Amino acid sequence: MMPPTDTSLPQFIPGSEGIDPKRVPQRTLYTNAKMPAVGLGTFGSDTVTGAQIAEAVLGAAAVGYRHFDCASVYGNEDLVGGSLAAIQAGGVAREELWVTSKVWNDKHGLGQVAASCEQSLSDLGLDYLDLYLVHWPFPNSHGKGVDAHSRDPHAQAYIHDYYMQTWRQMELLVDRGLVRHIGTSNMTVPKLELVLRDAHIRPAANEMELHPHFQQPELFQYVLDNGIVPIGYSPIGSPARPERDKTPGDTVDIEDPALVRIAAKHGMHPATLCVKWAVQRGQVPIPFSTTPRNYLANLQAAVGEPLSAQEMQEISELDKNCRLIKGHVFLWKDNQTWEDLWDTDGAITPP
Ligand SMILES: NC(=O)c1ccc[n+]([C@@H]2O[C@H](COP(=O)([O-])OP(=O)(O)OC[C@H]3O[C@@H](n4cnc5c(N)ncnc54)[C@H](OP(=O)(O)O)[C@@H]3O)[C@@H](O)[C@H]2O)c1
Repeated sequence: MMPPTDTSLPQFIPGSEGIDPKRVPQRTLYTNAKMPAVGLGTFGSDTVTGAQIAEAVLGAAAVGYRHFDCASVYGNEDLVGGSLAAIQAGGVAREELWVTSKVWNDKHGLGQVAASCEQSLSDLGLDYLDLYLVHWPFPNSHGKGVDAHSRDPHAQAYIHDYYMQTWRQMELLVDRGLVRHIGTSNMTVPKLELVLRDAHIRPAANEMELHPHFQQPELFQYVLDNGIVPIGYSPIGSPARPERDKTPGDTVDIEDPALVRIAAKHGMHPATLCVKWAVQRGQVPIPFSTTPRNYLANLQAAVGEPLSAQEMQEISELDKNCRLIKGHVFLWKDNQTWEDLWDTDGAITPP
């Protein structure tokens, strides 16, 4: 698809103050493709509009971002697509961009995955996606803005055969050239073990919650050991996450005294330190921001002086196993707790 020459497009003006994208570290996938090690998140929670996010995509590209984390359920891919078109019309080649999208939980059924991918491609104005993820391993959906008690009346447990039926449809998208890589999201080690056993095309990346207070060391190491790139969502601890994802015991990474102290030493905001730590640890953070100063700082963090070994060690010891995006709305039975979604005893929770 040629970049449109429509004059009504928003204007893309490469900024002089940004970071040269060539300086941003890259992660190599098992196909040898390179993914920029920092991406811009595009989930506006329940508060930030699609138009604001589309503007941020444009602004972020102007300061050097080339990686954008999208999803059909974010409800803004058509607007983000306008920005991607403007970025390409402004001289950035499609091959320089890394665009991820995700199939939502209500589109796992036979014939639905391809249709959803085609819709995302059309909305984003692209011929292909660099990465397409199964957003959650449950075919359970929920309405926009619902609270944590909301349940899909047809909700189901993780059924591996069903997941593989979805995965086969994902594999066909690679065969058709519509997506270059496929991957998983919100998975656990026992679920990934089965997917790796049965996949014809292995997941190239796994998107997972990762921030200093939730480091998921076991899953993180497992994906690295299996040649899967860990993409870290909510890398700053998602301070503006939806109300349904807030519970009284949640901790706040950017108020952690050790992070505040180390950030002050480097003259940066603790949020930026979270991004810097994430890149240096080897994950791909995808911080969300619509504030130009913040998204620029987050990219600068990836190219500046590294943290010392002692600082990295100190941050590794801050893990509180504090999951923020617990996923209550995906539970399938009464009297369950959110831990059932995450196989916390090491085995897949039975139906
Ligand atoms: N796969 C999944 O299931 C899944 C789940 C959740 C999220 N995600 C993806 O991950 C992305 C990021 O996660 P998130 O949106 O939950 O949270 P996040 O990136 O951890 O936090 C975003 C918040 O941090 C603020 N912020 C960003 N940079 C900052 C800086 N340098 N200084 C101070 N504040 C800063 C932002 O405010 P400003 O806008 O004012 O900068 C925004 O309120 C999402 O947008 C989405 O693409 C995926």
